[in-house]
Amino acid sequence: MRIKMTRPQSGIFAEQSTAFEVIEYRAKTCATLQQIRMALAELKQQLDTIELVIGFGPKLLQTLTGSNETIFDEYTPRQSSHGHQAPATQTDLFLWFHSNDQNNLAEALIALQPIMEKVMTMTQQCSGFKYRDNRDLTGFVDGSANPKDLAAKQQAALVAAEHPLSGGSFILGQIWQHQLSKFHHQSISEQEQIIGRTKADSIELSGKAMPNNSHVNRTDLTIDEVAQKMYRRSMPFANASQQGLYFLGFSCQLSRFDALLDSMYGLTDDGITDRLLDFSQPVSGSYWFAPSEDMLATLLQS
Ligand code: HEM
Repeated sequence: MRIKMTRPQSGIFAEQSTAFEVIEYRAKTCATLQQIRMALAELKQQLDTIELVIGFGPKLLQTLTGSNETIFDEYTPRQSSHGHQAPATQTDLFLWFHSNDQNNLAEALIALQPIMEKVMTMTQQCSGFKYRDNRDLTGFVDGSANPKDLAAKQQAALVAAEHPLSGGSFILGQIWQHQLSKFHHQSISEQEQIIGRTKADSIELSGKAMPNNSHVNRTDLTIDEVAQKMYRRSMPFANASQQGLYFLGFSCQLSRFDALLDSMYGLTDDGITDRLLDFSQPVSGSYWFAPSEDMLATLLQS
């Protein structure tokens, strides 16, 4: 299949939203490729009042492209030497809806299921929201070290121009369940040591003040002189029984996710584990690929 690649899915970079929804699916074994294509094409056409990002797991992308080989690897589980777990729950399809109008988001969700139910089984749903000034529920600003201007965001998030998957983006999605009372039981100064930034103003700790097991220290990585940047769009979620963060990262290379997760779980040479793992644990984990708009149009052609 020859695919023209240019424009990214615009929802990746739209930042005005206040309400978010991630839905993950497994493809039904009885669904034909043609039915899957038609359902997704209809979805794109109908849900035009909200931002929508579509990502495919490795198996579904391989089927849609007709490729003989796997295009990228599934998410693999991890375990730290202290017993922290990162389970793998790889799914076939990732949909990310977002809007600054809860009405539009609700209408999109109502329209969704009749279109998808013939071809997909829903396995995860997570409703997120913008919490205060882009804070995680721990109270720390999340996204401070994200690239600032659109060009830098695109450079971190999108596969480079010369590559066959150009304009697309690899996605890491994980549901993290926080132990908020345990975290908030720590003094503010202790919380800042766990994260590696100040709580009020999100100023990075510097020099000896930055612990080597802080979250920022474990995730601010450079490999072969290349900063392992990504563009994070994580969303807090909360109900009376569970609170946490749907970690959502977009990257130009899948290997950046692996490198950061290995670093957090102490699976690198220094063996140091991210202290944040003592206060929050992932209960899901998948990789997907969000093709460029042009590649997506080709993949969904009946
Ligand atoms: C419970 C889950 C998580 C929470 C609450 C969390 C929260 C935070 C906070 C508060 C910061 C500092 C401010 C900022 O730059 O955004 C940060 C930085 C960062 N986090 Fe996380 N994070 C979580 C999981 C992850 C995961 C799973 C990854 C990647 C696999 C990751 C990658 C990063 C990166 C790349 C930075 C910026 C490091 C730098 O260059 O300074 N985070 N995170």
